[in-house]
Amino acid sequence: MSNQTQNQRDSFSNKFAVVAAVAGSAIGLGNIWRFPYLTGQNGGGAFLLVYLVCVFMIGIPLMTSEFVIGRSAQLNPYGAFKKLAPRKPWFLIGLMGVAAAFMILAFYTTVAGWTLEYFYQSLTGNLMGKTDAQLTTMFDTFLMSSFRPLLWFLIFMGFTGYIVISGVKEGIEKFTKIMMPFLFLLILILCIRSLTLPGAKAGLQFLFRPDISKIAPKVILEALGQSFFSLSVGMGTLITYGSYIKKDENLIASAGLITIADVSVAVLAGVAIFPAVFALGGSPASGSGLTFIVLPGIFDKMPLGNVFALMFFILLAIAALTSTISVLEVIVAYLTEELKMSRRKATLAAVLSVSVLGIITVLSFGTLSNIQFSNMNIFKLLEYLTSNIMLPIGGLFIVLFIGWFYSKDQVRKELTNEGALKGKILPVFMFIVKFVAPVAISMVFLYSLGVIKST
Ligand code: TRP
Repeated sequence: MSNQTQNQRDSFSNKFAVVAAVAGSAIGLGNIWRFPYLTGQNGGGAFLLVYLVCVFMIGIPLMTSEFVIGRSAQLNPYGAFKKLAPRKPWFLIGLMGVAAAFMILAFYTTVAGWTLEYFYQSLTGNLMGKTDAQLTTMFDTFLMSSFRPLLWFLIFMGFTGYIVISGVKEGIEKFTKIMMPFLFLLILILCIRSLTLPGAKAGLQFLFRPDISKIAPKVILEALGQSFFSLSVGMGTLITYGSYIKKDENLIASAGLITIADVSVAVLAGVAIFPAVFALGGSPASGSGLTFIVLPGIFDKMPLGNVFALMFFILLAIAALTSTISVLEVIVAYLTEELKMSRRKATLAAVLSVSVLGIITVLSFGTLSNIQFSNMNIFKLLEYLTSNIMLPIGGLFIVLFIGWFYSKDQVRKELTNEGALKGKILPVFMFIVKFVAPVAISMVFLYSLGVIKST
């Protein structure tokens, strides 16, 4: 990739490759770790409802907008805004995206490291036969131990860097196309086991019966942030990937398909986890350890549970890897195209600097846990700032750019592939990116900052 001129840019070979690569970015820990724990903390069904509204009303148009920007500029997010809006400050959105990429990688890779630990623990058979309380202690002790989480973090970071440098992405794409259906199948099996536990029904009710009174401003902000996080939108990952999409792909249809896949995995993860939480006596609101505490409990109640656990955690690690490479790609594309570094140098520089931030992040559960910002450790702070502030701000400006700044003809060209598609939903799309999405995102912000008061 390093010495290419722009018109020879790499591109995804066909429609399936686009959908697979973007779905690979979207589907990951966001669906299986973050979605369930946030749902548990934010009132269950009420959170799910707001999340779905955000995904379908704002997420799909935003994803499409990123594709449009990336594909028409053929550049990284920063370069893309510079090219499409010369001498205007839009490029700042691209820069914020690069900054967000650093921050997301630091905490996301930390969690990816947890999946490796749990893979290892299932190898040694340590996960089985434990009560909910014991699993909780095990998780907490691991986090505080510092050395092991650090080791797993660095190993995972190394994998990510290795793949991005050596461009074995094609290999990994082929590989994930086979692996991800397995992950999906495994989650389905988990759902069945979870649903047949005595007392499972309470979990389903928790997830699917929204208690509207729980919809507070904070819940809406968390749901909006999670919808962006899960779809990988709001920071330019999909601008970068959009620049690799061929001119004859249908952008809106791809965005729709990817979104449906992403949401399905999240909802299924919820169906696997909540019935078990209630059946096995845990608390849905127990926070970022939820998945890692509840899942071993389910495996324990299955024949060959340890084998399933083993498979599950390695597949989850792979799903996380296809997401981390997409985030690292944003930084690498920026460094190679804007600072003219070689791909190798750029990747090394990115991996090293993310690792510094990541080490601090990992230690924020142990040695550095006394560093707190309004009750958040460094890990939680990075998670909060990126998902609930940077992605929504990025998303807001991306839709504003497409809705109000970028030439309507260009948008039409990209979305109809120069007239080859009919573009019937174009007016709906324009209405959303011009009005609905910007107003909704701004309102959520103002509400949660307390500027507007709900009565
Ligand atoms: N969407 C991924 C997940 O759910 C994480 C991710 C990849 C991401 N790229 C991103 C999140 C860009 C925000 C922005 O696991």
